[in-house]
Amino acid sequence: MIQPHSLLPTSFTPNKILATKGTTLNHVSTRGQVQAHFKKCTKESGLCKCNRRHFIEAFGTSLLPISNASNAVELLNIDPMNMLDRVHPPRPDWYEEFYASAMDKTMKSYEAEIAGYKSQLFSNLRGNVLEIGIGTGPNLKYYANGSDIRIVGIDPNRKMKKYALAAAKAAGITSENFKFEQAVAEALPVDDASLDVVIGTLVLCSVEDVDLVLQEIKRVLKPGGTYLFIEHVAAQDGTILKYVQGVLDPLQQFVADGCHLSRETGTSILNAGFSTVNVHNIFLSSASLINPHVYGIANQ
Ligand SMILES: C[S@@+](CC[C@H](N)C(=O)[O-])C[C@H]1O[C@@H](n2cnc3c(N)ncnc32)[C@H](O)[C@@H]1O
Repeated sequence: MIQPHSLLPTSFTPNKILATKGTTLNHVSTRGQVQAHFKKCTKESGLCKCNRRHFIEAFGTSLLPISNASNAVELLNIDPMNMLDRVHPPRPDWYEEFYASAMDKTMKSYEAEIAGYKSQLFSNLRGNVLEIGIGTGPNLKYYANGSDIRIVGIDPNRKMKKYALAAAKAAGITSENFKFEQAVAEALPVDDASLDVVIGTLVLCSVEDVDLVLQEIKRVLKPGGTYLFIEHVAAQDGTILKYVQGVLDPLQQFVADGCHLSRETGTSILNAGFSTVNVHNIFLSSASLINPHVYGIANQ
């Protein structure tokens, strides 16, 4: 299991340590508790209201312990396929392909700059690993050195699948050890307390309901399991960057499939009720408006 100290690479000193905290907020660890949260937040539309935005709505396995969907419908009423339809209804084919292809082609300099952080964060993975919003699979090459590792990547965008499968193959990960599932992180198709590691990079900016996703991550992690994250967040209040992010946020959501520029995701992770959270703050020159980033480890 990754320990927090392994996160602090000698050659990548974070600008600032935001916080190290053991919190007890929002204890939601079973699907029943997640369901209660969901019901509380649900109105007639059937969508959870937490942090929701609707700019783009008009566009309108066997590796891991994947839940039986029909049981989930019956017992929990938050079946992963229902949730997929609710929070990320299918976009037109051309839009999904455009976004997947853009992610594949335009992230090279970003990936080069973040590589040192990723190789530290994702070293020595083992066991059952789930990546939420896996996209084109840029992280898979870092998992290849892991031992005894079984990976499932979920993403609502069907067009990401071919890129993610190709990335897994290029990384030398066998098709037995990597599966892609179409799903959203608001209802993970995974049993309670069944995973060793959950990973998410640049995804909490795009989900419909950040708090619900964090409760889902806690639900599926085993006790002591690890959530590894790299997310871009809102700039500091009062800065020009924060102002520009506010102005361009609607456009960003439109062109980048719901990505928000000004979420306080570091704070959301700190307040989600993980037993320990280590969050570090960095600024990446290749990411322009999509700054700063937080990265770190939270433990169930
Ligand atoms: C900016 S991309 C990042 C992809 C990849 N994680 C990376 O680091 O390049 C955001 C990804 O989140 C996915 N996504 C959007 N809404 C989601 C949701 N509700 N649950 C899970 N993934 C979601 C998108 O389809 C997209 O692949």
